[in-house]
Amino acid sequence: MVDLGSAPGSWLQYAAERVGPRGLVVGVDRDEVRIALPDHVRVLRADILSLRPEELLAIAPSFDLLLSDAAPKTTGVPFADHARSVALARRSLELARAVVRPGGSWVCKVFQGEEIESFRGEARLAFDRLVESKPKSSRERSVEIFFVGIGRIA
Ligand SMILES: C[S@@+](CC[C@H](N)C(=O)[O-])C[C@H]1O[C@@H](n2cnc3c(N)ncnc32)[C@H](O)[C@@H]1O
Repeated sequence: MVDLGSAPGSWLQYAAERVGPRGLVVGVDRDEVRIALPDHVRVLRADILSLRPEELLAIAPSFDLLLSDAAPKTTGVPFADHARSVALARRSLELARAVVRPGGSWVCKVFQGEEIESFRGEARLAFDRLVESKPKSSRERSVEIFFVGIGRIA
């Protein structure tokens, strides 16, 4: 699986445990992941917005799941933060279309705002089923939600 926006590394630790040593977890972040991780975790230090699918496909021919917890540094200007979050989320969707195997899944955090409706439409086209979730761990007043795409359409 792929984990975009993986620093400082909590999701990587959890994913590594769930996937187990016979699986593979690839983390991507422009910041360094400093924690110790098992051998079946690889970390790429890269900007998601310019990351090419080939860089992931050089590591494995396809992936079952792509997660994105990537988030911009917030500025306090809601539209600017939303726009940057949607840009990251769109990139994660493009990468999922390119590297997730048909039938595989995508989970993506995004800040809600004006562009969410068109982004939802784009995501719906890529998966058999699209679910939205606001986990309890996400603060009540936070604008973040998660999209879960199940069954990538080939
Ligand atoms: C909320 S944190 C992720 C936390 C992580 N899931 C964990 O469990 O530790 C968001 C991350 O997105 C990364 N990020 C934001 N924009 C990025 C970009 N354009 N390219 C790569 N990483 C980016 C940040 O560096 C930050 O580490």
